[in-house]
Amino acid sequence: MQVVYTGADWHEYWLRSIKSNKSIGLVPTMGALHEGHLDLVRKAKEESDIVVVSIFVNPTQFNNQEDFENYPNTLESDLDKLSNENVDFVFVPDTKTIYPEKPVININFGELERVLEGTFRPGHFNGVGIVVSKLFNLIRPHKAFFGQKDLQQTGIIKQLVKDLSMEVELIIVPTRREEDGLAMSSRNMRLSTEERNQSLILINSLMKAKQELLAGKQWFEVQNQIKCDFEEKPLASLEYFELIHPERFTRYSKFDENQKSSICVAAYLGKIRLIDNLPIIP
Ligand code: PAF
Repeated sequence: MQVVYTGADWHEYWLRSIKSNKSIGLVPTMGALHEGHLDLVRKAKEESDIVVVSIFVNPTQFNNQEDFENYPNTLESDLDKLSNENVDFVFVPDTKTIYPEKPVININFGELERVLEGTFRPGHFNGVGIVVSKLFNLIRPHKAFFGQKDLQQTGIIKQLVKDLSMEVELIIVPTRREEDGLAMSSRNMRLSTEERNQSLILINSLMKAKQELLAGKQWFEVQNQIKCDFEEKPLASLEYFELIHPERFTRYSKFDENQKSSICVAAYLGKIRLIDNLPIIP
């Protein structure tokens, strides 16, 4: 496994891969790798000749400085995990490599970012859009792999690729969960034992809501009940619990079993913000 630090380093390897007709798969990450990331890596290995994993904690997508400063950094163990998966390259740029200067452009994703994460994390998707564009331009992958847990992020990146005619195929990989159902996230390692126990309210409320909707209960009743359930958990604080169209990200006020739908949730456990989602009608 080769670790590369700059676009110029990678360029040599890229030329060699292209000359030998090898396809390149990119798994963009911010490190603190868990089994969910490794699922992306395994999928990338199945679908590409050469796998590049990038590790870069992107400052421009954090709307909260404290969250950025506390984001876990576990580079050494990340490299071990990737080496065990036989990854070919790990791209570990520093901030100056990615941002020699502060970007002037601002990516506005319109309606797509006026709900859910876009509302609660202003500027987040601009930061994601810019860094993902930079990674695609530097690595020039044929395919790129993202997790379904960040559902709205996958929608944003699909839009980016479409609007800028980028020649990269996006592969979305299902959410990996802990045995008790909590969606894997790099932030989980920062939860205290009690926060970890109460964090199950995210997946439990998604499953409860799905069951009740499919049994015919009205969406507004389900949503209100879930808000009450959150109020009963002293360490949990709900930001949103919304029924949406899983590609357009428009909010539904009623459930219709003939329309595609997913529920998305975001909540704090103490100071740690977690998100999750569940398809209702895929
Ligand atoms: O999902 C993530 O880890 C990040 O948002 C990404 C796509 C690597 C961009 O920094």
